[in-house]
Amino acid sequence: MGSRRKVTVVGAGMVGGTVAQMLALRGFADVVLVDIVEGLPQGKALDLMQVGPLMGFDSHLSGSNDYAETAGSDIVVITSGIARKPGMSRDDLLKTNMGIVGSVTGQVVESSPDAILIVVSNPLDAMCHVAFDAAGFPRERVIGMAGVLDSARFRTFIAMEAGVSVEDVSAMVLGGHGDTMVPLSRYSTIAGIPITEYLTGDRVRAIEDRTANGGAEIVGLLKTGSAYFAPGASAAEMVEAILLDKKRILPCSVLLQGEYGINDLFVGVPVKLGANGMEQIIELNLTGEESAALKKSASSVQGLVEAMAQLKDA
Ligand SMILES: NC(=O)c1ccc[n+]([C@@H]2O[C@H](COP(=O)([O-])OP(=O)(O)OC[C@H]3O[C@@H](n4cnc5c(N)ncnc54)[C@H](O)[C@@H]3O)[C@@H](O)[C@H]2O)c1
Repeated sequence: MGSRRKVTVVGAGMVGGTVAQMLALRGFADVVLVDIVEGLPQGKALDLMQVGPLMGFDSHLSGSNDYAETAGSDIVVITSGIARKPGMSRDDLLKTNMGIVGSVTGQVVESSPDAILIVVSNPLDAMCHVAFDAAGFPRERVIGMAGVLDSARFRTFIAMEAGVSVEDVSAMVLGGHGDTMVPLSRYSTIAGIPITEYLTGDRVRAIEDRTANGGAEIVGLLKTGSAYFAPGASAAEMVEAILLDKKRILPCSVLLQGEYGINDLFVGVPVKLGANGMEQIIELNLTGEESAALKKSASSVQGLVEAMAQLKDA
């Protein structure tokens, strides 16, 4: 492997495979896929390498069942764990995924002590806590992927409803990655024009609800697993913002320490992503109603953190 930047993707399932694919197409990083299933990461890496001559990239991809090959990674994307099936909430995944995320984080940081972690496994905000505790990294280097996906979903629904190009739509979603997330219509625009000038209040509320249930809608359709194309693209977008030091402002789950009046909880808020990971937390002026919705969302993350503490003691 050469001197290109190195990204490890733990979990070579649907989301992990898609992250690897999206990164390979960008061409600026080599990718190591890791999974416990023998042959799976190796097979996906080889298959993806063979896309190179067709799509014109020459990144190196490899797969492994252990962590030796991941040493010195710049970024580690954690997607290992089980995904939702119809009728399951993200929180139903708590017990299984906390064990998996804790163990893989411990292993991966041993050989990549300077890496930036991007957590994808669900329930997202709770898994950020697990990774943060297991890694012992500063908060700038443990970042959860949820808001990028949730705002991409919001943007898609706004564009569909208004009949405009999604390219001109920007949107913001705050809060935990669950049904209590807070799509912020007031900060969502079409070519800079507030969406409330294009759409009636009823339509905006309907889109906000669809966004909050955007994951469940896809689980209901797929029946055997959860979404992976947009989640994979969202994680790749965060990797790009960091590796190319783009200083993008993206909603991500980060450990709040007093910002937004919230303490010691991972919650989705707009942050600046650059070479140092989370470089700044942007504090928006929220109305009383928005602020209350964010607090409610944070308290559901708090509930999961408490549930994990009990599971650990049990
Ligand atoms: N944050 C988000 O917005 C978001 C979006 C979509 C999915 N997810 C979550 O991402 C996770 C992955 O989803 P998926 O659809 O790719 O699931 P998947 O079942 O296709 O893939 C998960 C992979 O993790 C592997 N794995 C399990 N234990 C492991 C371990 N100890 N070490 C290494 N690998 C291990 C499995 O073998 C499997 O290949 C789920 O928890 C899902 O809920 C999060």
